[in-house]
Amino acid sequence: MKLKRILKWSASAIFLAFFVTVFIAYWMSSNDCDRKTALVNHMKAIVYCEYGSPDVLKFEDVEKPVPNDNQVLIKVRAASLNAFDVYLIRDSWLGRLIFGLRKPRDTRLGQDIAGQVEAVGKNVTQFKPGDEVFGISRGALAEYACTFERALASKPPNVSFEQAACLPLAGLTALQGLREGKIQPGQKVLINGATGGVGTFAVQIAKSFGAEVTAVCSTRNVDLVRSIGADHVIDYTKEDFTKSDQRYDVIFDNVGNHSFAERRRVLNPKGICVLAGMGGAGVKGSEAIGRIAGNIFTARALSSFTDQKFAQYRTKSSKQDLIMLGDLVETGKLRPVVERTYKLNDAPEAIRYLNEGHARGKIVIAVE
Ligand SMILES: NC(=O)c1ccc[n+]([C@@H]2O[C@H](COP(=O)([O-])OP(=O)(O)OC[C@H]3O[C@@H](n4cnc5c(N)ncnc54)[C@H](OP(=O)(O)O)[C@@H]3O)[C@@H](O)[C@H]2O)c1
Repeated sequence: MKLKRILKWSASAIFLAFFVTVFIAYWMSSNDCDRKTALVNHMKAIVYCEYGSPDVLKFEDVEKPVPNDNQVLIKVRAASLNAFDVYLIRDSWLGRLIFGLRKPRDTRLGQDIAGQVEAVGKNVTQFKPGDEVFGISRGALAEYACTFERALASKPPNVSFEQAACLPLAGLTALQGLREGKIQPGQKVLINGATGGVGTFAVQIAKSFGAEVTAVCSTRNVDLVRSIGADHVIDYTKEDFTKSDQRYDVIFDNVGNHSFAERRRVLNPKGICVLAGMGGAGVKGSEAIGRIAGNIFTARALSSFTDQKFAQYRTKSSKQDLIMLGDLVETGKLRPVVERTYKLNDAPEAIRYLNEGHARGKIVIAVE
């Protein structure tokens, strides 16, 4: 009887402690917007103090970043947008758990950068002021941004800043995902979601590996995917690729809108389905979470028990891969597809457009 009462009290105490901790964590989570101080060296940047629609984005004066010993300060010439930028500002419980409970911890936006080195920390050996670089840097939607030298590569001279800014996150996701699919020359590869930022790179990189590429897109993008080299096109508004008789060695899936059984049906017996994404900037709330949860649990189980594999991966910042992407553009094997270019102060408008979910290729922000 006494033990029962102790257990009951312990359970209540743990329950209460959990709620108090969550409550304190919630109220303590704040950001720079709550600590306004006079600016010493200012620059213009896109910031967001709250979660919400693209209306929360502001074009403001903020403190110019200072590189630490291992960082490079870049004068941004161009940046590009990714679905990830839309997920960062969106108000969802998963987003709040990861990026800050009450408010976003980091108020900067943008990941993909191209620009000129302005200053370097004392441990930086590969770059010097004046060098032209591209790579990954949080806070790319600004006049200046700081990042680590390992996240940067030299921009090839005949590649523009706008083209280079398209490459980092989307290009790395396509390249590393196709490697996860163990892509080989002559293989049949299907790209689902072939016309977004990642898809337009995946089609071209798969072609550069010598694959026979089938692109899945909507009607208005059929000509676009043909122009970047797709051998076959499936218009998803008219035809479901999982119901065809064709089999594929690799499915590179940016969308995740078909069940595992449907995708297994069109995979060769030892085929690999690469789970790259969940539908891009347009996919919302529970739909996205359902696809992520399905990927985490079912993909692993199926891959353990069958010869058909479902590969999950997280894109890694890699200097070698950035260099490879730069070389592909320099040699004309890869052409970043840029649908629209906006000025930095119009970045909220650009994010609003991406949020609609039907951008074609990349959206670039040119920084003057
Ligand atoms: N694994 C990683 O670490 C990693 C890293 C970066 C990105 N990602 C993920 O990769 C995915 C793609 O990113 P993104 O930047 O390319 O997004 P995006 O630019 O927003 O493109 C999404 C594409 O999906 C297409 N689409 C939507 N519904 C479709 C359907 N039912 N069938 C076929 N295509 C459909 C859209 O084409 P239409 O306009 O023709 O509908 C659009 O081209 C995202 O989910 C992102 O989260 C993953």
